Amino acid sequence: MSSGDDLRIEVAPVFEPLLEPARYKAGWGGRGSGKSQFFADLIIIEAMKRPGLRVLCCREIQKSLKESAKRLIESKVEEYNLGSLFECQSAEIKTPGGGVIVFAGLQDHTSESIKSYEGFDIAWVEEAQTVSHRSLNLLRPTIRKPGSELWFSWNPRFDTDAVDEMLRGEETPSGSVVVKANWSDNPWFPAELEQERLDCIRQQPEQYDHIWEGGYAVVAEGAYFAKHIAEAREQKRIADVAIDPLLGQRAYWDIGLRDACAIWIVQQRGPELRFVDYYEAEGQDLAAHLNWLRSAGYANAECVLPHDGAKRDPIAAERYEDHIRSAGFAVRTIPNQGKGAAQKRIEAARRLFGQMRFDETRCSKGLKALGWYHEKRNDGGYGVGPDHDWSSHGADAFGLAAIDYREPKASKPLDLSKLKRAMV
Ligand SMILES: Nc1ncnc2c1ncn2[C@@H]1O[C@H](COP(=O)(O)OP(=O)(O)O)[C@@H](O)[C@H]1O
Ligand SMILES: [Mg+2]
Repeated sequence: MSSGDDLRIEVAPVFEPLLEPARYKAGWGGRGSGKSQFFADLIIIEAMKRPGLRVLCCREIQKSLKESAKRLIESKVEEYNLGSLFECQSAEIKTPGGGVIVFAGLQDHTSESIKSYEGFDIAWVEEAQTVSHRSLNLLRPTIRKPGSELWFSWNPRFDTDAVDEMLRGEETPSGSVVVKANWSDNPWFPAELEQERLDCIRQQPEQYDHIWEGGYAVVAEGAYFAKHIAEAREQKRIADVAIDPLLGQRAYWDIGLRDACAIWIVQQRGPELRFVDYYEAEGQDLAAHLNWLRSAGYANAECVLPHDGAKRDPIAAERYEDHIRSAGFAVRTIPNQGKGAAQKRIEAARRLFGQMRFDETRCSKGLKALGWYHEKRNDGGYGVGPDHDWSSHGADAFGLAAIDYREPKASKPLDLSKLKRAMV
């Protein structure tokens, strides 16, 4: 058994910047880049250097130790023959000089209970993409011992996830070292994963960048419009779309009662639907939405509301449509489409998608929502209708525009006989 004196742990060159002390250490990237392996190695390295080291390995949700990094760290202890220095117990691992490695789910903690980690030297947050703002806010001030460090490893999901905002946003906390690592940076990338990667290129090309190259997710599995959007991009129908001053404007709403309100501004020219602008706001009242319409230049737009337009605003005790009308807008409410309304909207939108153009800049947020809008699956993997999440407001308003589509009136053929008579 090793006493540790002759211990040599090799790390991938991409992670070398994380070997130096730093308040925040981050390793993000696609699957199989060796992130988990590296941080597990780093724990062993630090525990060997600093007797009595206390380490918290955590994630947002940890229902059992099986979901933790415990097994991984134990396999390192075995691999490096350090069984005489580390003691792997049922719930924790004792480290040289009276230190300890513990495992926890952040969601189980309160601002009181988290204090039990105040004396810790290192907190490693694994699968950090799922860590909530609340958990981060609990953890950061808790790890406060002089020289203490916070480590994060994750496969990015959205740029709005708490860890991405903190460590990949415009301003990172002082003392952060952030490393991007992908499969191609992993000297030990196994053949099995290479096979998986190649299969992914073939079978889920739209997910490849997210799963393997660390890109943000742009489409979910079971996404309703992902293919249509990709096709529209290819055909340059997502581009600069100028607002035509001679065409009427319609504003298609999804009225958010407590959550978000979404509005698409649409112009129709012949059979073509032009999505020229998109608006989304959370937790604001009707007046704010109407202000946006006016200030963005859509005061003359006809507002088209889903069936809840006929509902009453809980504050103004007035029907939404009346409220909007009395603010000076033309208003129309589309009656309830009945059972399967969401599915009908999706089908109508898919049917018409080839006739649609989108302004890339003004509609970028709406397009992001349309790309993400996806089917919810039950445990058996069967689709059970659209998942209600941040993307469904934009998608619902979009579907309303599709339901409301009318074929252009065919222009009357010229009656030549009348024309001649008129000329005589
Ligand atoms: N230091 C290492 N020693 C041995 N194998 C490694 C090492 N780093 C990575 N690997 C190999 O690469 C695979 C992926 O590493 P992992 O840390 O699980 O990636 P990630 O956490 O980025 O998805 C591992 O299953 C292992 O086969
Ligand atoms: Mg991992």
